[in-house]
Amino acid sequence: MNDRLKAYAAANVLVVAALEPSIVYLTELLYGFGLFNLNTESKHLDKHFLKQIFNYDLIFFDLSHTQFEVNCQHIQNIRATFSESYLPIVGLLPAVNSLGSADLRSANESLSSIKEKALHSGITDFITLTDDAIDVSLRLSNVLEAQAIHKTTQSQNHFLENLVAHRTDELLIANADLANLNEQIDKSSDEIFERLARAAEFRDDTTGKHTERVGNLAALIALRLGMPEDYVGLISKAARLHDLGKIGIPDSILLKPSRFTPEERELMMQHCQIGAELLSGTESELLNMAQRIAISHHEKWNGDGYPNNLVADNIPLEGRIVAVADVFDALSNDRPYKQAWNKEEVLTLLKSKRGIHFDPDVVDVLVDIVTPDDSDSYGTAVAA
Ligand SMILES: [Fe+2]
Repeated sequence: MNDRLKAYAAANVLVVAALEPSIVYLTELLYGFGLFNLNTESKHLDKHFLKQIFNYDLIFFDLSHTQFEVNCQHIQNIRATFSESYLPIVGLLPAVNSLGSADLRSANESLSSIKEKALHSGITDFITLTDDAIDVSLRLSNVLEAQAIHKTTQSQNHFLENLVAHRTDELLIANADLANLNEQIDKSSDEIFERLARAAEFRDDTTGKHTERVGNLAALIALRLGMPEDYVGLISKAARLHDLGKIGIPDSILLKPSRFTPEERELMMQHCQIGAELLSGTESELLNMAQRIAISHHEKWNGDGYPNNLVADNIPLEGRIVAVADVFDALSNDRPYKQAWNKEEVLTLLKSKRGIHFDPDVVDVLVDIVTPDDSDSYGTAVAA
């Protein structure tokens, strides 16, 4: 007895044979090797039956009778249906002397032809009625061992596939959560920025509309100057914090309706450094631009501005843009300490300061954007 076969005593075996003698022979053969989980099938294998094939560990086909061609077709169907399964199929070959050939040579040729066709159909191995029992037991243990290894590998593969799918699902969910979190953080950042801008403007413009209009106008000017989309997006927000430093200026000065004394003016001018200080020490591109605007929006093209007396292109572009947008909007609208000018007057003033106070290119762009009768069209032009 082959000891290796004992490990597969529980194997499910199917015997497909049309003739009773073949069924009896194969059944007794398999019982003799300790394989008792047998089913036999003598009819044609239909689609319903094919579904059950997967439950077996080994199939025997009787290839020794006249339905050889039909059985080869069945084997092909099984292989096509279970292409990813090893599933050993062993064929019982006819005895050489039963082939009705005229001589031994012809008989062997007929047997070879049967083997070749069965092999082409997908047979795994053969036995014959005359084989030695040890040979047969070795073949059975080999194919059952291969089947067991294949099933174990398949099971491990399925486990790993399920594990990967599960981990992938978890990763997708985590990514979605992260995206939602990032979206919430972005919204919160925008809201905090918006409220900071309102706080900066609150004491001398409770509507908060001045900073909003300056942001929109600065973005529109930047766009007309040919600046890239990222820059336009940044300046639309950063410009709103240009006067953040006013938080540090006393109300007695900030809201004073009459002209400043030299000391008061000196204090008021400090809002640039205060704002820059508040916005310093960050890696945020947005806050860095806001800082450059806070420190430079009162510089003048000819160097007469403050706090650093920068000249022309030495003034950051965003500072030169906001300088024009800020003055234009402040003069064009009512403020707590003054009434609005009409836009023609404002444009005339800006043009008169072109190349003196303001960057000439920025003034030219503003004049293109704003016409005396266009009301606040720029106020929504970029935001929209
Ligand atoms: Fe200012």
